[in-house]
Formats: sequence, structure tokens, C-alpha cells
Amino acid sequence: MIGYQCLVCGKEFAASFDGYVCSACGGNLDVRYDLADIAKRLDRDAPFLGGRTDQFKYAALMPLDSIDSAPPLRVGATPLYPVPRLGALASLTNLYLKDEGLNPSQSFKDRASAMIIARARETGVRVVAGASTGNAGSSMACMSAAAGVSCVVFVPETAPPAKIAQLLIYGARVLAVRGTYDDAFDLCARICEEKGWFNRNTGFNPFTREGKKTASFEICEQLDWHAPDRVIVPTGDGNIISGIWKGMKDLYAIGLIDRLPRIDCAQAEGSAAVSRAIDALRHSGDIPTGSDWSRVKVQPVQAQTCADSIAVDDPRDGLAAVRAVIESGGEAVTASDAEILDAIREVARHTGVFVEPSCACAWAGLRKLAEAGRVDPDQRIVCLMTGCGLKDIQNARKVAGDPITIDADLDAALAALNGP
Ligand SMILES: Cc1ncc(COP(=O)(O)O)c(C=O)c1O
Ligand SMILES: [Zn+2]
Repeated sequence: MIGYQCLVCGKEFAASFDGYVCSACGGNLDVRYDLADIAKRLDRDAPFLGGRTDQFKYAALMPLDSIDSAPPLRVGATPLYPVPRLGALASLTNLYLKDEGLNPSQSFKDRASAMIIARARETGVRVVAGASTGNAGSSMACMSAAAGVSCVVFVPETAPPAKIAQLLIYGARVLAVRGTYDDAFDLCARICEEKGWFNRNTGFNPFTREGKKTASFEICEQLDWHAPDRVIVPTGDGNIISGIWKGMKDLYAIGLIDRLPRIDCAQAEGSAAVSRAIDALRHSGDIPTGSDWSRVKVQPVQAQTCADSIAVDDPRDGLAAVRAVIESGGEAVTASDAEILDAIREVARHTGVFVEPSCACAWAGLRKLAEAGRVDPDQRIVCLMTGCGLKDIQNARKVAGDPITIDADLDAALAALNGP
């Protein structure tokens, strides 16, 4: 790591900079590396750490002095499944699911939380805090428990009960906010400043992206160091999608992949600030070409969707998300809540992978892109499934159907099975 660059105005900072965000404009910072030097030293036959299977095998491209600071849980190393039956529903011939629900706390967020906890341990931090729609917090609680670090989570009191149960069982101090995720985010920032806690808030803390990008490393490694053609990412704050793009760019810069994929953004119709900004920017034709993107604004919305993980008024890494889609030539697509709920069932029944509503939004969005002819059906497409379906069973039950109750008449119940 050699420093930071502001994703909004392009200003650069040395590695010794100790703020979270750009001191000139308040924009989020991107961690920078000497990629030419990393490329020079890379053993192309065994590019990453042997003897390790989790995301920390990619430590050469992470801001850590030693992987000994990583929590002792297996983060990442999640499967990339070919899913031809799901793909066939939209005439896609080469579709994969990356099943991130198999992380220790059952969501993609473990990649960021493990990175943050490792960083906290290296810098001697005693308390880590963060705001969360649920998954970032439960993952931070999980990683903190594994590493023996104190953790405080600010969460909207309306978060799904499974996520709140996770927070509590791992022993996090939990503050339930009578308000939205955005309220929790702002309150967390204020208290961290007052108390000197390490603030894990998504996007605001530049190291979350550095954990999230490892999913791209894994995807390409699982495809024998070939980039997919597209990756479709469920998007709220926009930090996951910006991490996916960053990971692809890192691999391209060090020569492990020979082209870059398109990165597509899927959002709920009722929480689509990033998609709207992308559409508006493309419509205006006034797309920045250098590192100063300060004239591009992401306007907040009043988020309303059943997909709680991607319900965000003011995306906290919104500009980075817009840049990921625009720079990669990707698409922005939205899905209604009804489409998202149907997609939970569709993914489960055609792949055996049970996902929470946010991920179903990625499949619903991809299906719409395919049906509108906006993606090439033979392209190698990865749909990022960021969280396990057991995180939110209330929504799944709306589309799962009901069991047939056996009353007095067993034969009638068996007949009602209507099949086997
Ligand atoms: C399961 C899941 N998918 C997608 C997202 C969206 O990520 P981001 O807010 O970085 O866009 C989240 C964020 O909480 C999540 O928990
Ligand atoms: Zn700036």
C-alpha cells in the first residue's frame, strides 16, 4: 500500500494519512498500491499464498503487514456454481452463481469485516463500531468474537430478527436506532468521533473495499485466471460493486487477467439512487474522463423495498458505484419487490441456493437485462449472491407456499401433493 486517492476529486494522500475521508472534499478514499512492483515480484505459477484457502491468501494485494492479524475463521473461498437451469429461464447459456451466503456469518460482508478487524488489530484499536442494515453488523460481530475485539453496532430496529439475533449472540453491543439505516450511519459516525472508536462504516472506511475486492480475485481464480464477461451485483451503498470493480482492475494491472469484465448494478426500484445517477449521467453525455468526478452527484431517495440490505436513502459509496458501472461499460437495472420475491423462489428451485431478497434482486435484474436483449446470452456471467436466505425468512415465506396440513384424512393430504 502506497497511499490513498479520493474517488470524488482525485486528490492523493500518503499511506501515513490518518483520516477516513478526503480532507479536501469529504469524498471516500481508495487505497492505492504499487501494482507495477507487485506484478514484478509475482510468481505467475503460484501467484498467491500457498497453504491458505481463505481470502487472506491474496494478502499481497491487501493493506496488511501480516496475515497473523486476520480473524481465525475461513472467510471467502466460496463456491462459484454453474447454474444452467436458472440461466435457461432467460436463455443464458453460461451463468454462474457466487454463493457468498457460505461465509461464516452467512454474508459477503465477512470479507470487509475480516479485513477491518485485521487492520484494527495491526493498529492497536480496542473498539470497532459500525452502522448496518444487518449483515455488515452481524458480520462484524462474528469477526470480532473470533478475534476477541470489542464491537458496537448501530442498527435500525426494523432489521430482520435473524440479523439482530446474530448480532446479539456473537456478543456485540447493539444500539437499535428508531429510524433508518441512514440515521444509524450518521449516529455511528458521531459517536465514533466522540469516543475514538474505529469506524467500520461502509465506504467511509476505505478498508471495507479492500476486503470486498477479494471476491473478484476468487472468481477469476475459479475461472482459471480468466475474467468473466459480466458480474451483476446487488447494490445499496455501492461498496460491494466498487470492491468488485477494484478487484478486477487490480488483477488486470498485475497481468493475471487479460481483459476487464462489465460490472452491472442491480437495485430495488424503491431504492435506486445509484441506478438513477448512472442513467442521468449517460443521458447527459457529460462523463468525466480523469480522476475528478466531483461534478457527478448521486441524489438521495426515500428508500422503500422489501430487500432490507439494499434499502438505502443516500448511498455511502454511491459515486464509486457509479464509476464502477460507467468505467466498466456495465448496465444499471432495477427490479420491483414482486420481481425480487419471485426471484428468491426461482433461484432456490433452479439451483438449490437459498438467498435473501437483495441477491434475488441481482437475478431478477439480470433476467430483465437478458429479456430486453441488453446482455449477450452466451456471455460468461456471474451473479453475486451476497447473503443466505435464512437471514430473512419472512419475505421468503411470502412466496414459498404452505405445507399441506394432515388432518384426519392422510389420503386426501397425499392427493393434494399433486405429483409424487
Ligand atoms: C446481502 C447483501 N447484499 C448486498 C448488499 C449491498 O451492498 P452495498 O451496500 O455495498 O451496495 C448488502 C449490504 O448490506 C448486503 O448485506
Ligand atoms: Zn476529494
